[in-house]
Order: sequence, then structure tokens, then C-alpha cells
Amino acid sequence: MSTPAAAFDFSPLFPADLPPPAAKWTGLAKFSFVGGNNDPEQVPVEKLIAAVEAVLKREGQSLATYGLAHGPQGYLPLREFLAAKLKRDAGMACTADDLLIVSGSLQALDLVNHALLSRGDTVIIEQETYQGALNRLTRLGVSAIGIPLDREGMRMDALATALADLRNRGVRPKYIYTIPTVQNPTGTIMPQARRSELLRLSQTYGVPIFEDDCYADLVWDGKRPPAIHAMAGNGGVIHIGSFSKSIAPALRVGFIVAPWEIMSRMLALKTDAGSGALEQMVLAEYCAPHFTSHVPELTRALRIKLDTLMEAVNEQFGTAAEFEEPKGGIFLWVKLPDNVDTLKLYQSALAAGVAINPGPEWSTDKADAKSRLRLCFASPSPEQIREGVAVLADVCRREFGVPLRIANVERTARA
Ligand SMILES: Cc1ncc(COP(=O)(O)O)c(C=O)c1O
Repeated sequence: MSTPAAAFDFSPLFPADLPPPAAKWTGLAKFSFVGGNNDPEQVPVEKLIAAVEAVLKREGQSLATYGLAHGPQGYLPLREFLAAKLKRDAGMACTADDLLIVSGSLQALDLVNHALLSRGDTVIIEQETYQGALNRLTRLGVSAIGIPLDREGMRMDALATALADLRNRGVRPKYIYTIPTVQNPTGTIMPQARRSELLRLSQTYGVPIFEDDCYADLVWDGKRPPAIHAMAGNGGVIHIGSFSKSIAPALRVGFIVAPWEIMSRMLALKTDAGSGALEQMVLAEYCAPHFTSHVPELTRALRIKLDTLMEAVNEQFGTAAEFEEPKGGIFLWVKLPDNVDTLKLYQSALAAGVAINPGPEWSTDKADAKSRLRLCFASPSPEQIREGVAVLADVCRREFGVPLRIANVERTARA
């Protein structure tokens, strides 16, 4: 009998710059307020089933050809739907030729980054921003300058100062990354006048704008300012978007609108022989007749969940929790008293079954974000929201002594 072979050791083969290994998936927490997950009740399952059947019956045989013979930019009817939608909703004058369908807008971030960035480069981003964008920049060895936000998004006075400082030091940033329409995590919408000012600064300093409009469909009153892309006269804006927040994130379908000069570079970098075709076909089939009625239904349901979350936070944390009401989207960005360290709170809350996103992971200013956290209200049910926030408040009180009162019961009365 042969002796069992020793397990093969891959470790000497890994390149030095490989990221640390991923942790194994251990399942979702009982009360999950993390990630950008959507409301399961709002996935239009029946109509998606009808769309799958209709499109497969009509065009299923085209799956035999890479890219459905529609070319590397994606399924033409989906690009045509998007071009019309972006014109109607965001004022953008683009055609199907200016659009590239990608595997979620995370792939858009990768393609834009790979086309523009080298180690040691500098980019400008919002101080509080999307963790996925921030982590990518860290991994690429790119310096990210965070610009503070106010209730109208990125502050233009601070941006002007940063651009001038960088120019004085001989640094030309590669782009200004912004989430102007329902910012992640703060939930602000940049008004049109500020968008104009941003464009003016971009032109003055010769720095393109990278506009991430991932949440732009989820605005409570349905009204959004024109996209920065729509307002730019010189083609210096790369615009990305996604179906993750308007339909479902597991579909993994996003898009990029960019001038050919950069589109052609990104196409050369997109070496996956096309993003999943079935998802694109189903989305095009579903969206053409149903998108405009689906979105208001979705936002109404999300708004009710936000109200449930804000009520629960107010009831459980009282004045210990501060937040601005978001203008749309799926997140509440909360400030707790200064002594709360949300990285520690995250660990203890998780042990009690509650998952939260600790603030420092969503900010370039880790100290400022130490006592902040992000709560996603789209995916938990109203009962999970109420129960989960109560557990979180209990854990926070135990660990940090705040909130002093829980649901109007004195701390001493519960002790
Ligand atoms: C601002 C922003 N951009 C991009 C993404 C990536 O989304 P997806 O790859 O699902 O389109 C997210 C996801 O939460 C996000 O919040």
C-alpha cells in the first residue's frame, strides 16, 4: 500500500503582491445590515420568468456564439434600452455604441482603473466613499485624496484647495471619483449647480471625472439632476451604472459610458469574452416594458424600510445616534458617540448575530469615521430591522456604555 501523499504546497508559487487569502464564507448573519443587498420581496420574479421564456424562445440559439454575435460591447437591445433610459432620466446624449456592458459595475471600476492608473498615481475621491472603490485603490498602490462632504455631496471649496495643492506639488490626479446621485454611504444628492462647479474645476485642472451612478434610480421623489456626463461639454466624464440596485445584484450586470478613446482601451483589457449573455437578454426583455413601473414600486418599498430603520434607531439609541435622512438608496450612515469604536462594535455585534459595516472601512479618514457605521435597510425584513437594531443597541450599551437608555428604559433599570 502506498503512503498518503503530503498535501501539495502552493505557497512558494504565489507572487509576492498577491492579496491576502479570502476568509471562508460562513453564511449571512441573522440580522444582516451589511453589503449592498436588495429587498428580496421586490425582485420581479414572475415577470423575469416570463422574460426568460420569451427571449430564449425567440433568440436562444444565438447563445451558440460568444457575445451573441452582438460584439464585445454587449447585447444590443440592452444597450439600446440603456441609451434611451439614460437620455430620459439623466439627460445623457449617448448611443448604444458609447456603452459597454460589464459584469457588475465592480468590473467597471476595475476596467477604468486598469486603463488609467499605475502604482504611485494619485486620485481624488469623496472622504466617505464606497469601500469597493477604496480597497481597489489601496491594492493598486494609488494615493486616494479624500474630499469632505456636506449635505450636497463633495465640497467644492475643499476640492479646489486639494487640486491647487496637488498642482503646486506637480501632481496631476488621474481622476475625480464621485457618487453624486445618492452617495454611498451618506445618501446625499449633488445639486446641479455643484455639478457645474465640479465640471469647471475638472476642466481647469485637466482632471477627468469618474461618475458612479449606481444608486441613481433609487431617489425617493423620483427626480434627479442631470448626470455630470450629460452636462460635460468636452467628453471628460466616464459614467458607470448598474442593474444591481434597480433589479438585483446577483445578476451581475453593469455598464460604462465612455468616449471611444478610453472605451477602446477598456475593451482591450476586458479579456473575459463577454459578460454573461443570458442576464443581458433577460434584462433587456424585462426592462423595455417594465422598468419604469418597477422602479417607483421598489423605491416606495425601500422608503418604508428606511422609515422603519430610522424609527428603530431613534427608539433604541435615542440621542446617542445621529444621522441625516438619505435622499434615496439603501443605506443609513449613523454617527454614535465618540467613545464608540465601530470596528470593535462590529465584532461584538456579529457574535450576537448582527452584521454592520464599520465606518472606517468606508472613509479615507479612519479617525473621523471611528464611531460611524453604515446600515443597509433594503435586505432585512421590517421585523429583522426592529429586532436587529434592538440587539445592536444592547451590545453597544454593554461594550461602550451608550446608549444610556434603551427604548426609553433607564440603563440602571435593566442592569
Ligand atoms: C457606489 C458603488 N459602486 C459600485 C458598486 C458595485 O455594484 P455592482 O458591481 O453590483 O454593480 C456598488 C455596490 O454596492 C456601489 O455601492
